[in-house]
Amino acid sequence: MQAVTKVALIGMGTVGTGVARLLIDHGDRTARHAGRTLWVEAVVVSDTQKARDYQLPKGVLTRDLAKVLKNPEIKLAAVLVGGLEPARTITLQLLESGKDIVTANKLLLAEHGPELFDRARELGRSIAFDACVAGGIPIITNIAQCFSANQIESLRGILNGTTNFIVSQMEEQGTTYAAALGEAQRLGFAEPDPTMDVSGGDAAQKLAILAHLAFGARVHWSEIPCVGIDALDPADLKYAKELGYRIKLIAVAELHESGLELHVSPTLVKMGTPLAEVRQAYNAISVIGDAVGPVFFHGLGAGQMPTASSVVADMIDVAVGRMGITFHTLNLWSQGEARVAMLDHKRLAGRYYLRFTVEDRPGVLAEIAGVLGKHQISIASVIQHEPSGDGQVRTVPLVIMTYRAAEGSAQAAMAEIDKLKCTRPGSVRMRVLD
Ligand code: NDP
Ligand code: HSE
Repeated sequence: MQAVTKVALIGMGTVGTGVARLLIDHGDRTARHAGRTLWVEAVVVSDTQKARDYQLPKGVLTRDLAKVLKNPEIKLAAVLVGGLEPARTITLQLLESGKDIVTANKLLLAEHGPELFDRARELGRSIAFDACVAGGIPIITNIAQCFSANQIESLRGILNGTTNFIVSQMEEQGTTYAAALGEAQRLGFAEPDPTMDVSGGDAAQKLAILAHLAFGARVHWSEIPCVGIDALDPADLKYAKELGYRIKLIAVAELHESGLELHVSPTLVKMGTPLAEVRQAYNAISVIGDAVGPVFFHGLGAGQMPTASSVVADMIDVAVGRMGITFHTLNLWSQGEARVAMLDHKRLAGRYYLRFTVEDRPGVLAEIAGVLGKHQISIASVIQHEPSGDGQVRTVPLVIMTYRAAEGSAQAAMAEIDKLKCTRPGSVRMRVLD
């Protein structure tokens, strides 16, 4: 008879339902890889009366976490509840009661990683978290294990499925921001509070996790300079297209001699380059390692089955015993010193897309070019269309692409241009990735 590992799921929403489907409907598959059956002994939810689109075997669904905590035969629990509390308390209780943990909750790790990982180590348990970053893409395992001979030099990625879905819908279908967000929520991509997605916070949490794993950085996600897509104007999608770019919410972690460049922001990405072609809820990560060179990952970054794929792979790793070994050798979020510090954002450099609304009169372009020149910012191209209509229009959009300039200079120049009499509120500045 085949060995059995009894497991519990805490949460059966979008992700938990996918995990239950894989473990129960495809138990033979998981058993083949784990060398044992992963038996779903209990699934804990907050409301057992709720209509569910997957029927569990009788007696498995419960509201009572104690049933899991008190059952020593349950060796492994997947924490698939979002938010900080009660997810943190539940995770600690499960560790204390001797369970290994698999989780998809990146906010929990980005916020309480040091506490939870220390406690797991003290108790001789492990925490696996591949589903926390980029859904179905096994980026955590790849960085932690497959690239362990490398110094990672750069990570650039699309780490949030909801925002990529929204921007794709707006760009390709002309969908409004609100309608696209509603659709992302309906499809189960968005966080319970979608502000985390659209503000860039979710991508910053994932970037903080990757930066810790790849570079030994200890940066709280809220310290990462972050701009979301919540104020994205469809006009910028249109101008970007005219210039040969798409706008994507890009997360960057890049190692420089003086420190680590970290930021999340809507960025113009050259059409035809791999990141520009990542559509809908797909994520992608471009990694450069000093030995392996450039590697590109692409896959669904959110949604039920892609995320469940990562959760179940982690559960198999725990059951086989691999996770117990790597968790302890990696020593993540220990009390040790950071290996690298974050660079001062103002010292970064890049190309920029600028859009101003300006008075349509002689001398305006020269005035703006003058301010940019004063801050050592050179103009690469300009778009200003003739105003349509009866000539009564008094303001026009002015779009400028710059050459490489210091972030601090770009900030100072924008502040100065915004104060000019000829400009109206609502200027836009975005990074450009060629
Ligand atoms: P859902 O909101 O769909 O599901 C949350 C589940 O948690 C529900 O089943 C809910 O119970 C249960 N729950 C809430 N409070 C408790 C509690 N106190 N005790 C027991 N169960 C509780 O979330 P998702 O499945 O979308 O996300 C889960 C986690 O996975 C989040 O951290 C999210 O960030 C992460 N994630 C999500 C992805 C996605 O595409 N959705 C992708 C990658 C990661 P009930 O069903 O009764 O309401
Ligand atoms: N809300 C997240 C996203 C889920 O859209 O990417 C996956 O982490």
